[in-house]
Amino acid sequence: MNQGSAITIGVFDSGIGGLTAVRELERLLPTATIIYLGDTARLPYGTKSNDTILRYTIEGVTYLLEHYDVTALLIACNTASAVAAPFLRQHLSIPVFDVIDPAAQQAAQQTHTKTVLITGTYATVENRAYEYSLAQYDPTIRTLSVPCPLFVPLAEEGLAEHPIAYQSARLYLERFTSSDADTVILGCTHFPLLTAVIRRVLPGMHIINSGAAAASALARTVASQPPQPQRSGELHVIVTDLPRQFPAIAERFLGHSIDSLRVESNLQTALSNVLQP
Ligand code: DGL
Repeated sequence: MNQGSAITIGVFDSGIGGLTAVRELERLLPTATIIYLGDTARLPYGTKSNDTILRYTIEGVTYLLEHYDVTALLIACNTASAVAAPFLRQHLSIPVFDVIDPAAQQAAQQTHTKTVLITGTYATVENRAYEYSLAQYDPTIRTLSVPCPLFVPLAEEGLAEHPIAYQSARLYLERFTSSDADTVILGCTHFPLLTAVIRRVLPGMHIINSGAAAASALARTVASQPPQPQRSGELHVIVTDLPRQFPAIAERFLGHSIDSLRVESNLQTALSNVLQP
């Protein structure tokens, strides 16, 4: 196992789904400090325009960089990654990881039929970020895609294993059982919570968890950097609103309870201090 050294990873998500990536980061980099910002007040991002998603993401990332000594950034939301990751890479001097490219790479490696099913929010599917990324790894791969917007509130509400989640999975995915696809990308960090029902509807398909794939990519890069003094890992969670039942639901995403939780309702900050021209 990698031993993450004294690094501080800023993780940004539209809400709670990015905790599925944090779960994997904690496993792979046990000594890293993780500062997680979930924009729960403004979730969902996946139904919003690109302009709004970009603005919200910049505000969230700027908040993280202004308040913490972040050494690497993970955009743990496919929607925000699809819209904002190239802009952030261009304007920030720290490494910026997104959740799309690592998942596309895994899918390209795993598919035998060369046909990949992409699931996600409306914004992720419409922006075609996975198609572009998959084509870089293997231009012969065919893609199918379907937005699954109901999966987000089902995961947030703790209903991921309820019959209503199974019915939703059938509604969105059943038609792909007769397709050539042998690999499905969970192109939303909320969707791993619904893995059991997705597996029931799409038996035998390889399931790619975008948050976990991104955490592995980040951990590989961090671990290849020069060793630094060890220190214990910490997780600090900041949300822009405290939804009802948040601690219990977050625990389902994360696999353990949250010790450090804070509400920050105002993300407005001076962008020019952080973003380079
Ligand atoms: N977790 C987000 C993603 O990965 C989706 C939730 C939202 O719509 O804000 O795309």
